[in-house]
Amino acid sequence: MEKRTQIGNITVELLLGDISEQEVDAIVNAANRRLAGGGGVDGAIHRLGGPAIMAETRQKYPNGCPTGFAVATGAGNLAAKWVFHTVGPRYRDGLHGEEDALRACYQNCLRLAVEHGCQSIAFPAIATGAYGYPIDEAAIVALQAVRDFQSGENPCPQLVRFVLFSGDDFKVYARALEPEPRREYVGQAKPNTMSVCILADSSGSMAGIADDMSGSLNTLMAENRNLDAEVTVTYSTFSSNYQPQFAEKPIAEVPEFKIVPTNSTALLESAYTMIEEVDARFAALDAYPEKVLFVIVTDGMENASRPQYTRARLFSLIERQTKERNWVFLYFGANQDAIHEAASFGIDASRSMNYCADRHGLERNRERLSRKMEQVMCCQQSALGDVCFDDEDRKE
Ligand code: APR
Repeated sequence: MEKRTQIGNITVELLLGDISEQEVDAIVNAANRRLAGGGGVDGAIHRLGGPAIMAETRQKYPNGCPTGFAVATGAGNLAAKWVFHTVGPRYRDGLHGEEDALRACYQNCLRLAVEHGCQSIAFPAIATGAYGYPIDEAAIVALQAVRDFQSGENPCPQLVRFVLFSGDDFKVYARALEPEPRREYVGQAKPNTMSVCILADSSGSMAGIADDMSGSLNTLMAENRNLDAEVTVTYSTFSSNYQPQFAEKPIAEVPEFKIVPTNSTALLESAYTMIEEVDARFAALDAYPEKVLFVIVTDGMENASRPQYTRARLFSLIERQTKERNWVFLYFGANQDAIHEAASFGIDASRSMNYCADRHGLERNRERLSRKMEQVMCCQQSALGDVCFDDEDRKE
């Protein structure tokens, strides 16, 4: 079983086989923090590679290697020239930094490949065996790491091979290699129209500010009723799950915004679901809104999405909508580093904003949103990419 595709300058191959037998410049070992050897990939590499690899590992890295990092040794009797030993995360529930750690494994191995002048590198499905990382999520992280690496203008190995140990794992990677399917739109963009999509946090942490938040959204609608354009509004909330409230209402007819705080924060899942829902709706219209302003407001950290809704997956989707559909995403985050958080799922720093979770903070958000609505509506389609928070917006 084999599959090959091109990601930028890199040829990406999927292969059913044994990692230790690969004839490439570097193979990656799924090691542990002590670099002490083990079963699975680790066992296969040391068995076939012979004792020289462990001897070099002990000598050069007596303190082992932290999770997410990678170190290099020679490859003993293997066909490869190098072994990069990386330590994947032990999977608990996906909420303990597992995704960041796994991404770092791939990034650090790709960096080592560049440093060692490797033209080709083979990865196993790091962390998906003894460490229990779900293979479908791991596949998305692995492939996204390659995409990110090559788009960062790094010099790259020409060939990245993923060596999968079972037909099922191969199929999972093959599916993940397909791009987020791009929906074909049947209709045309209708001039002078804008869809404002608002996804608001209604988790328990909103309890103190829910009324101020819904009040500020109601005011926002009232003060933009007379924009010189056809504006429609879609509104959803989220706590432990996604809750659509209303869709594509003309701005003059929107019902009152309400927020009933409860439970946790399934941000990734809700954002993903709402984007897909809106996109599917527009794809079927004869005339879809020319401009889309998609606003996410939250005051807590993601802690409840189902595991298939990874940051990497939301990242791909937001990137696609931003680049291919010209949607403008804005992110407002309180009680967190909003810039870092939004960047992790594909919203640029220039479009994310920290705000203070009190009445004044929400008022400021209303003013900022009002300005952005006007700006999006007034600017040329080709200039939508330049819409971002400016100095005036960044004032407290
Ligand atoms: N070639 C390719 N893939 C393999 C091979 C092999 N020879 N052997 C196992 N795999 C697959 C597994 O099916 C799994 O999908 O590699 C993936 C990673 O599994 P593990 O080797 O268990 O690695 P990981 O989950 O990262 O656990 C690391 O296991 O062996 C110990 O010392 C290692 O403590 C560390 C832990």
